Amino acid sequence: MRSKLPKSNTTIFATMSDLAKRCNAINLSQGFPNYSSQPKLFDLVNRYMHEGFNQYAPLNGVETLRQVIAQKIGKLYQRKIDIDKEICITAGATQAVYTAIQMMVHPGDEVIIFDPAFDIYAPAVKMAGGKIVRIPTHYPNFDIDWDRVNDAINSKTQLIIINSPNNPTGKTLSPDDILALELIVKQNDLFILSDEVYEHMVFDGRKHHSILSSSILYNRSIVTFSFGKTFHNTGWKVGYAVGPDYLMSEFKKLHQFIVFSVNTPVQYALADYLLEEKHYNHLSEDYQTKRDQFLDLLQDTRFRFLPTNGTYFQLLDYAEISNLSDMEFAIELTQKHGIATIPLSPFYEKPTEQKLIRVCFAKTPDVLIAAAEKLCKI
Ligand SMILES: Cc1ncc(COP(=O)(O)O)c(C=O)c1O
Repeated sequence: MRSKLPKSNTTIFATMSDLAKRCNAINLSQGFPNYSSQPKLFDLVNRYMHEGFNQYAPLNGVETLRQVIAQKIGKLYQRKIDIDKEICITAGATQAVYTAIQMMVHPGDEVIIFDPAFDIYAPAVKMAGGKIVRIPTHYPNFDIDWDRVNDAINSKTQLIIINSPNNPTGKTLSPDDILALELIVKQNDLFILSDEVYEHMVFDGRKHHSILSSSILYNRSIVTFSFGKTFHNTGWKVGYAVGPDYLMSEFKKLHQFIVFSVNTPVQYALADYLLEEKHYNHLSEDYQTKRDQFLDLLQDTRFRFLPTNGTYFQLLDYAEISNLSDMEFAIELTQKHGIATIPLSPFYEKPTEQKLIRVCFAKTPDVLIAAAEKLCKI
């Protein structure tokens, strides 16, 4: 059979999680917490299942959930959303991103992404027949060079994919970045896909600058979110996409043939749970505390920390410790020292010279303490 993704192997996340299991290592690799959602949310899912909410949901999602999402967007990002036209509940942000890319990208179209980039964008562009144009960000702050973006844009450029807060770097877009993007959208006929799954994890007094807050950008964008990231249940795979009617109506045409609709009782439960702001408005503070505790525990290591403005990831530079490539170093760390992490190279087009690994600090204090003890010995 002729492969559609001949150069793709199993993702680095599955590979490292599998290695962690085999080596009985502490798993700081894949981006998921080792704690779960509140029992209240489980009770709600249970209740809706028992009350008979078990058949297909509407293709764009359960109405009450769309309503609560629209309220939240109004409050946080000052945008009024039509719940029938501008929201679609998806099987995680992954499906939202995939669907948006299939819908917007045609064979021969160019799509700009920024290295290092989360690994789901490029394969989806390839499957749509598009061409990925990778623009490196500046090391070590991972700033976007907007002049380079302007130079890369041509008549074939169809889409720019942004991700803030960013996986793997933890970088967040600033108001100046938003202005630069607005200028690009005003001057060029192209679209934006904005992946904002870490919207509730932004640190040190920063604010999440959503594309939803800018009318200029919103009118050309699809924005994606994930309940898995927000409510610590990545295995439930529920997320959503938001965008203007003319884009979302096309999005839904594809969505109906990809999944048709998403888990019904979970959507009802999420609608009730999301109504209470206290279920998410403390998250930035909580994750900042975790980041700070983890970095305090690592004060005596030879790893150097790069700044993390958001997400639950921290980049560690091991240049003082080893000359190995990041892939070799991550394998050695798992096999010899019992800590699984993610090397940065898979987020780039080609393996990088930088000596960086990514760790996920969404873990309970006992795990962070045990992990830091091991890292301090290296
Ligand atoms: C930047 C980014 N986008 C999308 C996703 C996927 O989200 P979901 O699990 O809801 O599909 C992830 C998960 O790690 C992510 O880090």
